[in-house]
Amino acid sequence: MVAAATEKESGKPKKRLSEQSSWEAKDSEGKDYLYRLGKEADNMNIAVGARAGVIDDLFAGNFLGRDSDIVFDYRQKVTRSFEYLQGDYYIAPVFMDKVVCHIVKNYISHILNTKVPLILGIWGGKGQGKSFQTELIFQAMGVEPVIMSAGELESERAGEPGRLICDRYRTASQVVQNKGKMSCLMINDIDAGLGRFGNTQMTVNNQIVVGTLMNLCDNPTRVSVGQDWRESDVTKRIPIIVTGNDFSTIYAPLIRDGRMEKFYWQPTHEDIINIVHRTYERDGIARDEVESIVNTFPNQALDFYGALRSRTYDRSISKWIDDIGGVENLGNKLLKRRKDEKLPVYVPPKQTMEALLESGLFPSQRAEANNGD
Ligand SMILES: Nc1ncnc2c1ncn2[C@@H]1O[C@H](COP(=O)(O)OP(=O)(O)OP(=O)(O)O)[C@@H](O)[C@H]1O
Ligand SMILES: [Mg+2]
Repeated sequence: MVAAATEKESGKPKKRLSEQSSWEAKDSEGKDYLYRLGKEADNMNIAVGARAGVIDDLFAGNFLGRDSDIVFDYRQKVTRSFEYLQGDYYIAPVFMDKVVCHIVKNYISHILNTKVPLILGIWGGKGQGKSFQTELIFQAMGVEPVIMSAGELESERAGEPGRLICDRYRTASQVVQNKGKMSCLMINDIDAGLGRFGNTQMTVNNQIVVGTLMNLCDNPTRVSVGQDWRESDVTKRIPIIVTGNDFSTIYAPLIRDGRMEKFYWQPTHEDIINIVHRTYERDGIARDEVESIVNTFPNQALDFYGALRSRTYDRSISKWIDDIGGVENLGNKLLKRRKDEKLPVYVPPKQTMEALLESGLFPSQRAEANNGD
């Protein structure tokens, strides 16, 4: 400050502190960058460092990426690597085709002589495997996606959700640039965050989110997170996948064909049997047994059949609690055991077709079935 005052008085050009000091750095328009940082509303930018085109260009070369702190975005843990998806799963071929094709099309859109929609909108009933299978495909393709859910699109600060989408889009683009991996932006249950309920008006956030997505579709390689455009705002084109149950509540221009490709997902009888069979295979349940389970409970979503299996556990745990002396003694048995005392043995239930069928019944039906024995 003192230096600035003397400069004004003397009218002489200010002597620089040093050639490399960031205190006197200018932004791309030649203005004081630190001042601008302060001015930008609710700025929480701690990722400044030696950003190309912004501050201290000295160490931001043209190699090793343009931002000095290249791991910053990964530390934020918005990308997924799917360690939890262990085991063998069946992915319905039609579903696989659609998602793989969408991702590949977007990565080679510059050599295709046709307009490629940036967004793939997968819609259909609840629990039919939209999110799950998409993640399986990401894993199989080695895609490291950035995943967000509609809950994040709610914020009391107007404008925040739009910025978040841009931010995540750029993070995905950095995965491509810095890690050399394919990436993809996935937004789950978008209709929950974007829908209009009844005749009520769209909220401001809603409009901004729709506007942001439409903007991305129209300019997929130029995304700003601040108020102004910068040289470094040029990004890679990143395919977007959104899922939802009902797209009819979403603003029509967003879902028109050039911007969003729509895919209605409803597994066929065959798909369901294949998927359920693969998950029950470990328990030694045969394919025709799966078929009769699926036929016994038709018109159920995929998550129902997963729940059947966990329900058999619930029931055997209740039985185990009874065996070791009921609910009253539970604390003593579980926690306050004497040293030499062992925890009563719990035998996991053997999965049989009968057990699975039974756990799909209502409690009253189950009692009836048992009485019949
Ligand atoms: N291919 C599959 N293999 C094994 N299990 C699957 C498969 N697809 C779906 N499931 C099971 O079904 C459950 C529900 O799937 P998912 O969460 O993907 O549904 P969704 O279509 O995204 O539903 P929502 O509309 O409610 O978000 C998963 O948690 C998983 O247990
Ligand atoms: Mg889902």
